[in-house]
Amino acid sequence: MFPEEAGYWSVTTAEGVREVSKDWQTYSSELGGITVASNAVFPLELMRAMFIAMDPPKHDRIKALFQRGFTPKRIAEHEDEIRGITRDVLDKLEGRETCDLVDDVAQPVVARVIASFMGLPPGDDVIWARLMNTILGANDPEVNPEGIETVMERDFPEVFERCAKLIAERRENPTLDLTSTLVHAEIDGEKLEEHEIVMGFFLLMAAGNDSTKATYCSAMRALLEDESQRKLLLDDPSLVPSTVEEALRMYPAFAHFRRTATKDTELLGKPIKEGEKVVMWYVSSNRDETVYEDADRFDVTRNPEHQAFGAGGRHYCLGTALARLELRILLEETLDRYPDMQIDGDPKYVVSGFINQLRTLPVRLNA
Ligand code: HEM
Repeated sequence: MFPEEAGYWSVTTAEGVREVSKDWQTYSSELGGITVASNAVFPLELMRAMFIAMDPPKHDRIKALFQRGFTPKRIAEHEDEIRGITRDVLDKLEGRETCDLVDDVAQPVVARVIASFMGLPPGDDVIWARLMNTILGANDPEVNPEGIETVMERDFPEVFERCAKLIAERRENPTLDLTSTLVHAEIDGEKLEEHEIVMGFFLLMAAGNDSTKATYCSAMRALLEDESQRKLLLDDPSLVPSTVEEALRMYPAFAHFRRTATKDTELLGKPIKEGEKVVMWYVSSNRDETVYEDADRFDVTRNPEHQAFGAGGRHYCLGTALARLELRILLEETLDRYPDMQIDGDPKYVVSGFINQLRTLPVRLNA
């Protein structure tokens, strides 16, 4: 993977991931970006215009613009709306015998939910989903048959073009959505630059679209593959929140995030030099056998703590409450309507070292 770039340290234990996550002064998100490859899909310079790839103080100031709207209490106010979106999507399956849980259920639900936060019209959901999927799945020939260059030459400019229009509209007529929050934000008395607004928009859209979709599909697959776990849940739906946490633990939507050492240091007894890459593998730390008993077993009663949203620290996921609410509703509504659903074909993953996500999960809706 990316032979032209330097190698990296792999942090695979829960303790190591916690230590790196909490120490932003030693482990920077800004110096080299947040994925193994510094210039994976788009150049580092653009990556750094997203607050996920900034260090304090600028990171903290931009994140603070959004935090009030993402508390569990504020997010809970969206329950009826999200349930309505989910039911509408499931209603469209009426009369069908089979479907793909990725394209026919997860994608339209998560796309509409994040788009409603961003203030985008429903008619554009399919366009935004396509753009997010091709950019994040750029390396997968099935997702992106024309090759990674098309992402930079065609898809990324389309994001900028569409955003320029949204930005101009919000400048003219401020609204209450998150796009407007970005457009009118002032950091130290200065507005964000256009590319910072676009990349802030991209961050929220990509994070909102992709990760919840990934976790829901992985959870459904695990339940469909293990009758006994599904039965436990059907008999006692109060286990849904615990199932959500177990799915987040077993199948973290992001396989890794990366930091860069700002100085010579030591991590769990290993010497790390200034400038070296340090990669936190959540897919491993969430199955740390010193933390979890029988770590590879999917257990809906476990209700575990985990690091799928990061391990604390400045970059801890902004969207935890929203993701948990969406996942709970999606599982409740799907299982309520289709308790006998069966896998009907080969589930396939997106080819990526970063997003840990099914590209297809074909199912038969009723037994
Ligand atoms: C299952 C769903 C989700 C998972 C597994 C997930 C995971 C993560 C992880 C691992 C991080 C980085 C943490 C770190 O570096 O310490 C992160 C950051 C972030 N997430 Fe999520 N996320 C999810 C859903 C969402 C949703 C729905 C949103 C909604 C907007 C969101 C917005 C963000 C943002 C803006 C950041 C950057 C935070 C920062 O840099 O301070 N995420 N997420």
